[in-house]
Amino acid sequence: MTKRVRKAVLPVAGLGTRVLPGAKTTPKNLLNVVDRPILSYVVEEARAAGIEHFVFIVGRGQGAIEDYFDANPEVEGALEAKGKADILAEVRKDLAKPGEMSFVRQMAPLGLGHAVWCARHIVGDEPFAVMLPDMLMAAEPPALAQAIAAHEKTGGNIVVVEPAPEGEAHKYGIVALEGQEGRLNRMTGMVEKPAPGTEPSNLFISGRYILRPEIFDLLERQGKGAGGEIQLTDAMAELMKVQDFHALEYEGTTYDCGDKIGLLRANVAFALRRPDLADAARSAIEALL
Ligand code: UTP
Repeated sequence: MTKRVRKAVLPVAGLGTRVLPGAKTTPKNLLNVVDRPILSYVVEEARAAGIEHFVFIVGRGQGAIEDYFDANPEVEGALEAKGKADILAEVRKDLAKPGEMSFVRQMAPLGLGHAVWCARHIVGDEPFAVMLPDMLMAAEPPALAQAIAAHEKTGGNIVVVEPAPEGEAHKYGIVALEGQEGRLNRMTGMVEKPAPGTEPSNLFISGRYILRPEIFDLLERQGKGAGGEIQLTDAMAELMKVQDFHALEYEGTTYDCGDKIGLLRANVAFALRRPDLADAARSAIEALL
């Protein structure tokens, strides 16, 4: 029997170059989509999938992330005094439950693989989720729940994927599959940004993974890959030689909030999904066209 996936690692220590200068003083994942930070949606997705413990990998100057999930008696007291119960409930919804969140410093942004490796002592010897929080996923059931269900079925590693927009596969990490039937297929490899025309499939790695703990032994080697960074994909490719990896084409849509237009798309899409805002958002958008 496979152990239940209880912990999620959320690496947020990157520099957010693509959304500078905004990300200089506000960590990228605290930028708003409509009225909540990106991270709020990702934590909600994880809780809905049964995650009990969050391990944030943070960098210097990102104390605001820890503060966001902590109580703020001044704000909460003021809302209470003014009788703004609805806003207060929204604010409190995101607070960490006691012991639910750990924050680990990645002392230099040496790559995603290095960031995940920093979580090894907290994760221990059990399968765990990795969530790239700048990827917002609108899905029902939530994307991570779909990934965990696939892991429970296969017992192995799961990489969540999505069809790349026509002609754009060369911009992403693309999976190679043994065969393509249905949504869950055994992987044979991965290629980071394949040259146009050489893509092994049109499915890009979209930011949710379920990994078995043996990945930490491979990350331990600290091998540098593309861009001189310690890449998670290199360790996954190594692990794939001895363990099962399946790609799950999840049902839903990904918004890359680490990118200017992706962040804009997420704001528009999530406003249009909100019953309280949809009409006003649609009028505002139409007026601009
Ligand atoms: P990205 O490359 O998308 O994020 O990494 P970035 O480095 O912040 O963005 P750009 O490319 O400079 O605009 C994917 C995720 O991995 C984290 C990032 O914070 C992001 O959430 N990451 C990346 C780390 O935590 N540490 C690293 O060393 C690298």
